[in-house]
Amino acid sequence: MKSIWKMSSKVVLCLLFVSTHILPVFSLTDSNDLAALNAIKSSWNNLPPNWVGADPCGSNWQGVNCTGTRVTSLYLAGTRLESRQISDIPSLTGLEFLDLSNNIGLRAILPPSIGNLRNLSTLILVGCSFFGPIPDSIGSLRQLVFISLTNNSFSGPIPPSIGNLSQLSWLDLSVNRLNGTIPVSSGTAPGLDRLHGARHFHFSNNQLSGPVPAQLFSSNMSLMHAIFDNNRLTGSIPFSLGSVTRLEVVRFDWNSLEGSLPPNLNNLTRLNELYLSNNNFNGNMPNLTGMDVLYYVIMENTNLEGQIPVNIFTLPQLETVVLKNNNLNGTLDIGISYPSNLTVNLQNNSITDFQQRTDYNVELTLVGNPVCNTNGATARFCSVEGHRNNLLPSNRCGAMSCSKDKVLSPNCRCSHPYTGTLHFYSFAFTDLQNSTYYETLYRTLMTAFNRTELPVDSVIIRNPVISIYSYLQLPLQVFPSGQDSFNHSSISRIGFVLNRQPFQIEYFGPFFFLDEEYCCLPGSKNSSHVGIIIGVSVGGSVLLILVILAGIYALRQRKNAKNAIEKSNPFASWDPKKESGDVPQLQGAKCFSFEDLRKCTNNFSESNCIGSGGYGKVYKGTVASAQVVAIKRAQQGSMQGAHEFKTEIELLSRIHHKNVVSLVGFCYEQGEQMLVYEYISNGTLRDCLSGKSGFWLDWNKRLRIALDGARGLSYLHELADPPIIHRDVKSTNILLDNKLHAKVADFGLSKLVGDTGKGYITTQVKGTLGYMDPEYYMTQQLTEKSDVYSFGVVLLELVTARAPIQQGKHIVRIVHEAFADQRQPQNLDQIIDPSLDSGAKLSGLMKLVDLAMSCVRESATDRPTMGEVVREIENIMELANFDKKTDTGLYSSSFEERTDESPLHSFAAEAFDGSYGSFPFPVQRHQ
Ligand SMILES: *[C@@H]1O[C@H](CO)[C@@H](O)[C@H](O)[C@H]1NC(C)=O
Ligand SMILES: *[C@@H]1O[C@H](CO)[C@@H](O)[C@H](O)[C@H]1NC(C)=O
Ligand SMILES: *[C@@H]1O[C@H](CO)[C@@H](O)[C@H](O)[C@H]1NC(C)=O
Ligand SMILES: *[C@@H]1O[C@H](CO)[C@@H](O)[C@H](O)[C@H]1NC(C)=O
Ligand SMILES: *[C@@H]1O[C@H](CO)[C@@H](O)[C@H](O)[C@H]1NC(C)=O
Ligand SMILES: *[C@@H]1O[C@H](CO)[C@@H](O)[C@H](O)[C@H]1NC(C)=O
Repeated sequence: MKSIWKMSSKVVLCLLFVSTHILPVFSLTDSNDLAALNAIKSSWNNLPPNWVGADPCGSNWQGVNCTGTRVTSLYLAGTRLESRQISDIPSLTGLEFLDLSNNIGLRAILPPSIGNLRNLSTLILVGCSFFGPIPDSIGSLRQLVFISLTNNSFSGPIPPSIGNLSQLSWLDLSVNRLNGTIPVSSGTAPGLDRLHGARHFHFSNNQLSGPVPAQLFSSNMSLMHAIFDNNRLTGSIPFSLGSVTRLEVVRFDWNSLEGSLPPNLNNLTRLNELYLSNNNFNGNMPNLTGMDVLYYVIMENTNLEGQIPVNIFTLPQLETVVLKNNNLNGTLDIGISYPSNLTVNLQNNSITDFQQRTDYNVELTLVGNPVCNTNGATARFCSVEGHRNNLLPSNRCGAMSCSKDKVLSPNCRCSHPYTGTLHFYSFAFTDLQNSTYYETLYRTLMTAFNRTELPVDSVIIRNPVISIYSYLQLPLQVFPSGQDSFNHSSISRIGFVLNRQPFQIEYFGPFFFLDEEYCCLPGSKNSSHVGIIIGVSVGGSVLLILVILAGIYALRQRKNAKNAIEKSNPFASWDPKKESGDVPQLQGAKCFSFEDLRKCTNNFSESNCIGSGGYGKVYKGTVASAQVVAIKRAQQGSMQGAHEFKTEIELLSRIHHKNVVSLVGFCYEQGEQMLVYEYISNGTLRDCLSGKSGFWLDWNKRLRIALDGARGLSYLHELADPPIIHRDVKSTNILLDNKLHAKVADFGLSKLVGDTGKGYITTQVKGTLGYMDPEYYMTQQLTEKSDVYSFGVVLLELVTARAPIQQGKHIVRIVHEAFADQRQPQNLDQIIDPSLDSGAKLSGLMKLVDLAMSCVRESATDRPTMGEVVREIENIMELANFDKKTDTGLYSSSFEERTDESPLHSFAAEAFDGSYGSFPFPVQRHQ
C-alpha cells in the first residue's frame, strides 16, 4: 500500500514536472540567453534552486530579470556561488545590471569578452576572488555608470580605456593589487582625466605608484570623493586638486607623498573630510579657513612644522582635528570662537606653550609635547583616555530570547539575520557612542530596503570599530520580515542595495559591504542534469534541440575558458606523466626551471645557503626579475609525492597578506622540489630577541611586531580560503623585514580547515616543543586555537625575551608563578626583558601579558580567536599612545643596509621531521 502511494506520488510529481517545465517550450526567453544561462547552470555551483525549466524569463528564475525576451539583470550577490570561469556571462549581451558580489568562490579572471556587454550600466563584483588584469575591453562598455571591483585580487595596471566611459559616475577599484601609475590621457589615448562626470574615484589599498598626475584634476570635474589612500604614490599633491570645487572627501593618507600642500586647497569650500596622514609632507600647516564645512581633518605623522594658525579653529562645523606626530611648535592658541564639541589631538609635537584665553571646553590632547613637562594649568590636557566602542542596542524586548540559532530582531522577532560589515571610506564624526549617527544610518538603510520592496523587518548596527587606516567598520545584521530567513533573491537584492548605494547618508561617506556566508539559503542542488535527462526522455523535439544547443554551447565555452586559463598559466607543462592530476591552479606564483634556480644560487653554493635542516637547505638568490628570494630545496628522502607538492603550492600561492611570507614560485623539474619565497632580510624574531641579530627592539616595535604576527595568523584562520591552521607558530617562524614589519613564515606543517566538516582535524601531533598546545597534545584534535596558544608563547617571548623553555622551565609557568601570590605589575620586573626600560614607560605591558596568558589558557575554548587578539593588540596600542612614527618605517637607514649580512634565514627546518610529539609537555596541567 505504502509503495503504491509512493509510486503514484512519483507519477504525479513527474506529471507536474512535465506540465511546468515542458509546456513553456514556447519560451519567453531569447534562445541565446537561455543557452548562456544553461551553460552557467552546468558549470557553476550553488545557483538558486528554482533555476529549472527552459524559460528563465517566464518562470522567474531567482536573480534573473528580463525585459521582453532578453535577460537584462543578473543579481546573484551573496549566494556562495562557485566557479573558476565566468566566460558565459559575456554572451548575455542584453545585460544592463550584473552583480556577483560576495561570492568568494568565484575565482576567475574577468574575460576580455566582457567587452561584448554593450548595454551594461552597472558592474558590481565586490568581495569575490577575481584575479588577473582588468581587461582593456572594459573601456568599450560605454553605458557603464557604476563599477565596483573592490576586494578582489585584480593585478596589473588600471586600464586607461576606462577613461572612455563618459557616463561613469562611480569607479571603485580599491583593495586589489593594481599597480603602475594613474593613467591620464595623451593625444587620442584615453585616461581617467576624461571622466568629467565621475563623482567617485576609489583607489585605496592597491600598489599604485608614481606621482599623482596634475592632469587628473580639473575645474570642470564633478568629483566628490577622491580616495587614494594606502598606495605607493610619490611626489606632491598637485595644485590642480584645489580646483575640483565639488570635492567633499579627499584621502591621500598612507602614501609616500612629499613637498608642501598646495595653498589653493583652501578653495575646496565643500570639503567635509581631509585625510593626509602618514606621508612625508613638510612645510607649514595649510590655510584651511576657506573650507567652510570642514568637519574632519587628519594629518598625523606628516612632518608638518611651524605654528598652528589660530583661525583654523574658527571653522563652524569642525569636529575633529588630528595632528599627532608632527613637528608643530610654538604656542598653541585656540582663540575664543571655536565650535562646540571640538576634539583636537596634538600628541607628540613640539608645542611649548598654550595660550588659554578661556576655560576651554575642548577635548584637547597635548601628551608628548614640551608644554606637558611643566606642571601648570595645561595638565588636564596631558593625559590620554581610551575609548570604548560598544554600542549596545537598547533592549525593548524584555526577557525574550530565541532558540539557539536564531537572533532577536529589534522588533522582538526571532529569525536568521543576514550579516556582514559595512566598511566606510570616510565618516564625519568623532563620538562613536552618539546614537544620532546610527539612527540616521538606520533610517537611510530601511528606506532603501522598503523602496525596493525587500522583506526586511529591521537592522541592527553595532560595535563600531575604526581600523588603523581610519576606516569605520560597522557590523550589520539585516532581519527578514514575515519569514524566518531570506531566500536567494532577497539576499542578492539586499547585497545589491548595499553595494550599489542608491542613496547618500548624512555624516557617512561611501562604503562597501562584505558579508558573512548566509546560514539559511534553501538547498541548491545541481538540478541541471535532471532537467536534461527528463527533457530527452520525454522527447519534446523543440526542447530537445534547445537542450542540445545549450549543451554544445556550454562545452564550447568551457573549452574556451580552459584555454584562457591555460594561457594565463605558465604551468601547462605540468606533469606529463599524469601522476598528479591537472595543472595546478596558481595565483601569481611562477614556475622556475631548475636551471634558473641553479644559476641564481651560484650552483647551490654553500655561500648562498642561509639555513638547513631535516627538510633540506634554504638558499638565497636573486631571480631574473631582480627580486631577492629564499629557495627551499627539498633533499632526497624528504620529498613529497607529486600530488602533495601540487596541493602545497596551490595552497601557498593563494596566500597573500602583508604579514605572511608569500610564495614567489616553485620548481618541479629534474626530480627536484623547490619552493621560492620572498626573502625577508632581517631574520627571525628569535634571533632578534636573543641579541644575535645585533639590533634591539623597543617597546613600540615589539607591540607592532605582535600586531603584525597576529594579523598574519588571523588572515590564515579567518580570511584565507580555505582557512589554514599554521601548526608551527614560533618566534623562529616570524621574520622581520627591512622595516621590522613582521611576517609569518613556513606553513610546512599547515593544515586546511574544513576538510572534515568537524571544525577540527585529528592528526598525528606535530609542532615544536615549548609552543605546543597541551590540549592538542592530549586530544590530537587540531583547531585554530592551537595556533593561538603558540602565539601566546610568542607574546611572552616578546615581553621577556626568554626562550620558551629555559633551564627546564616553561615560560608560561614562569609568568604564572611571577603572579602567583599577587597580580602586581612590579612582579613583572623579575621576568621582563631587562633591556626594556623600567616598567612605567611600557604602557600596555600588563595588558599584553594578560592577553598572552589568555592565549595560553589550558582549554582551547577559553582562548580568544586570532581576530580578537588583533583587536586587543590594536586597543593596547591605542591606549599606549602608540607613536605612529615607528609605524611607517621611518627607521634609520642602517636597517636597510643590513640586508646582506643578515642572520640565518629561517624556514626552520627542524620542525619538519615532526619528531617532537613524544616529548612530555612541560606545563603542569593543574596550576
Ligand atoms: C526582478 O524580478 C523579481 C521577481 O521576478 C522582482 O521582484 C524584482 O522587482 C525585479 N527587479 C528588478 C530590478 O526589476
Ligand atoms: C605590476 O605587477 C606585475 C606583477 O603582478 C609586475 O610584473 C609588473 O612589473 C608590475 N608593474 C609595475 C609598474 O610595478
Ligand atoms: C583658488 O586659489 C587661488 C590661489 O590660492 C586663487 O588665486 C584663486 O582665485 C582661487 N580660486 C577660486 C575659484 O576661488
Ligand atoms: C586663509 O584663507 C582665508 C580665506 O580663504 C583668507 O581670508 C586668509 O587671509 C588666509 N590666511 C592666511 C594666513 O593666508
Ligand atoms: C618652529 O619651527 C620652525 C621650523 O621648523 C622654526 O623655523 C621656528 O623657529 C620654530 N619656532 C619656535 C618658536 O621654536
Ligand atoms: C554638541 O553635542 C551635544 C551633545 O552631544 C549636542 O546636543 C549638540 O547639538 C552638539 N553641538 C553641535 C554644534 O554639534
